[in-house]
Amino acid sequence: MNLINKILAVAALLAFWAFNAQAAPNDDIAKRLEPVGQVCVQGKECPGMEVVATTGGGAAKSPDDVIAKHCTACHTAGLLGAPKIGDAAAWGERAKKEGGIDGLLAKAITGINAMPPKGTCGDCTDSDLKGAIEKMSGIK
Ligand code: HEC
Repeated sequence: MNLINKILAVAALLAFWAFNAQAAPNDDIAKRLEPVGQVCVQGKECPGMEVVATTGGGAAKSPDDVIAKHCTACHTAGLLGAPKIGDAAAWGERAKKEGGIDGLLAKAITGINAMPPKGTCGDCTDSDLKGAIEKMSGIK
């Protein structure tokens, strides 16, 4: 064994010792290394992680929000013959004709005459629309 080899051998020994000295006190080193193997790939399920699913429209909208953003334009002034917000008689008459709040909802979804489909709230769910109709008409 020449000198270079001896130095290399010592260096290797030192490196090994240093590694062991670090690793030895950590009984749970394997445990700590474990998560490295659990790589989360985007678009795939992550082990041990709850992925919160969001639907297209996001959270439910409040009736006031929907009305303010979409319905008020026509339903406040009664534009184009729209039943006015809070006009219980006008809404009551329509509800009677359509068979209740669900009938009104059905017409609101498809649109009726000058009333555009979903009252222009394209990303409203049925229950978002229903909430707005209930609020505008006072019918539950
Ligand atoms: C561009 C104007 C306009 C907007 C915006 C609008 N409406 Fe209307 N809406 C009307 C008109 C006009 C009518 C009456 C249609 C008819 O009977 O000829 C009406 C009628 C309705 C009716 C009664 C349907 C029936 O069967 O008699 C409902 C329910 C309704 N709207 C819900 C909504 C909701 C909810 C919104 C907001 C998300 C909304 N509208 C936004 C114009 C509008």
